[in-house]
Amino acid sequence: EMLEKGGFDHFMLKEIYEQPRSIRDCMRGRIYPEEGKVQLGGIKEFVEKLKNIDRIIIVACGTSWHAGLVGEYLIEEYARIPVEVEYASEFRYRNPIITEKDVVIAISQSGETADTMAAIEMAKERGATIFGICNVAGASIPRLTHAGVYTHAGPEIGVASTKAFTAQVTVLTLMAFYMAQQKGTITQSKLVGLLTELDNIPNKIQIALESNDLIKEVASKIKDSRNCLFLGRGSGFPVALEGALKLKEISYIHAEGYPAAEMKHGPIALIDEEMPVVFIATQNSSYEKVISNIQEVKARKGKVIAIVTQGDTEVKKMADYCIEIPDSDEAFLPLLATIPLQLLSYHIAVMRGCNVDQPRNLAKSVTVE
Ligand code: AGP
Repeated sequence: EMLEKGGFDHFMLKEIYEQPRSIRDCMRGRIYPEEGKVQLGGIKEFVEKLKNIDRIIIVACGTSWHAGLVGEYLIEEYARIPVEVEYASEFRYRNPIITEKDVVIAISQSGETADTMAAIEMAKERGATIFGICNVAGASIPRLTHAGVYTHAGPEIGVASTKAFTAQVTVLTLMAFYMAQQKGTITQSKLVGLLTELDNIPNKIQIALESNDLIKEVASKIKDSRNCLFLGRGSGFPVALEGALKLKEISYIHAEGYPAAEMKHGPIALIDEEMPVVFIATQNSSYEKVISNIQEVKARKGKVIAIVTQGDTEVKKMADYCIEIPDSDEAFLPLLATIPLQLLSYHIAVMRGCNVDQPRNLAKSVTVE
């Protein structure tokens, strides 16, 4: 088993460290930065349909649902197609309005999640076109879909999803750019710039991983907390949700992810000196607004841990701990900001003596509803 873990103490840590490679594998043969071109063979035959659809519905569970929320930001921003993101378990039991004009994207690492499969079957019966984003080749979900794109992250053993999540986000990024390219909602020069940067993201993830020692130190300071809040805005919000899910599933600390601006509508009441608050506070369009949210937390003596852009000075003046990630286009913020949150949860769980790879009550694929 030690051999399978490649010298790491746990599969989860190995899989976190694999991300520069898994993301590269996911993009291989699909992006051509110099030409400003994205190629997605799996959904090629549906290109005409994609040019004319009214909306996309994304269905998924858990971490895959968080990837779907990132996809919503990217597809709406670049391809200008309205997107709805649904929990598969809710969607299947509602009487949703689905027509032949709809495209449903089902996201699943395992390709075996019962609720996601049922949601696909229902949407298919009502005439929608179904795309899959899966990691396990030949699993049940890819067999149920009309077309799809594999994430190629390699086998994920840790129950807590890490490299599969960033690969799902990468595929959704590629899909957003692909649709934008087909629909003409992006200029060629903009696409060249974005793809050149995307091509460099695995290197930037490698740099983000280098903060491991600092993250371990931060973990030691908050490991005994009973609660933890994760706050972000824009595409930093699904990152906050994912950070909270990671922490609760492997460390059993109660954690919640929230859009930072919603804090004042309730969660702010929880803040005192015992409450660590993790902020996604990178330098992007919501930077100034996140700074004022940090001030609100500090004014109530909350402990602030901030994920910031390399070289940041503003947030450093306020936060208790800052963890840097390399600067990049806002489109790729979720890919980079997720890395320190994975490591933070990992170290906290190890310090608390938890079974990181197989947390209690959880299974890798949830094949019952
Ligand atoms: C992730 O860390 C979880 N263990 C869980 O939420 C998971 O993402 C969910 O069960 C969906 O699984 P799937 O991607 O295989 O469909």
